[in-house]
Amino acid sequence: MNYQGKTVWITGASSGIGKAFAHKLYDLGANLILSSRREEALIKVKNELGADSSRIKVLPLDLTEPETFPAKTKEALKAFGQIDVLMNNGGISQRSTVLETDMEVYRRLMEINYFGAVGLTKQVLPHMVERKSGHIIVTSSVAGKIGTRVRSGYSGSKHAVQGFFNSLRQEMYQHNVAVTLLCPGFVKTDISKNALTADGSEFGKMGDAHQKAMTAEQMVEKVMPKITARKEEIYVTGFKERLAIWVQRISPTLLNRILKNQKVT
Ligand SMILES: NC(=O)c1ccc[n+]([C@@H]2O[C@H](COP(=O)([O-])OP(=O)(O)OC[C@H]3O[C@@H](n4cnc5c(N)ncnc54)[C@H](OP(=O)(O)O)[C@@H]3O)[C@@H](O)[C@H]2O)c1
Repeated sequence: MNYQGKTVWITGASSGIGKAFAHKLYDLGANLILSSRREEALIKVKNELGADSSRIKVLPLDLTEPETFPAKTKEALKAFGQIDVLMNNGGISQRSTVLETDMEVYRRLMEINYFGAVGLTKQVLPHMVERKSGHIIVTSSVAGKIGTRVRSGYSGSKHAVQGFFNSLRQEMYQHNVAVTLLCPGFVKTDISKNALTADGSEFGKMGDAHQKAMTAEQMVEKVMPKITARKEEIYVTGFKERLAIWVQRISPTLLNRILKNQKVT
């Protein structure tokens, strides 16, 4: 796919992976719609991007407010006339055990990571189907394949994402709308700082694994050719996570025994 003149709507564009995709796609010539809750942070990204601000629309939205999605989608469509790619990337993580975690935290993780992506996709999809062209991308995670301690709600939400978008893909073949599940391992962003703890407050720290991980910019460089090729599932991980995915395929029981003693933050 050539991104010149194409329109990409990115959620979670104010930081980390979404912001890195915004930079890359701007450089490739795309029109961008940048969404997340913090308008000032989005404007900052827009100002960093480059000279041609006519190619960038800032569209703040909260993924926990699905009632706003129809109007937001209308505004997004009006900005450049069409949406070629929807990148469902906005998300939030978790650091708390099942025994201590409030139900409200589980609901919030599902609202943002799962229902947010599903709701926005459902708004954009009819336009793509009508044009018989489009690409839906969702940032899942290795946690969408493998459950680990202190991430039960996060992992649950990403497993749900995997199930929904795998089903959607099969329905979309006939409409020429591609569906990509992007599954990163640890990436050095604010994801762990912003992660929810048992009572819904922020974790506030970056753990070792994220500290040592690849940057969002490095990750985007690695995956961009596969995104362009509209691959159905993309893994971008360190060695340990790649190994874990492999062990799970061979023996999920063995992986569970290994992971129960591993440091996972
Ligand atoms: N970093 C990793 O190790 C890693 C690994 C695998 C998958 N992922 C996934 O990658 C995606 C991006 O995360 P990141 O690593 O770039 O973390 P990040 O830097 O914390 O970015 C998260 C983004 O989501 C937005 N967001 C959070 N809550 C939102 C809400 N209620 N409504 C709208 N936007 C919201 C944030 O913007 P506002 O605060 O402005 O709303 C921010 O732009 C997530 O889906 C995450 O699960 C990350």
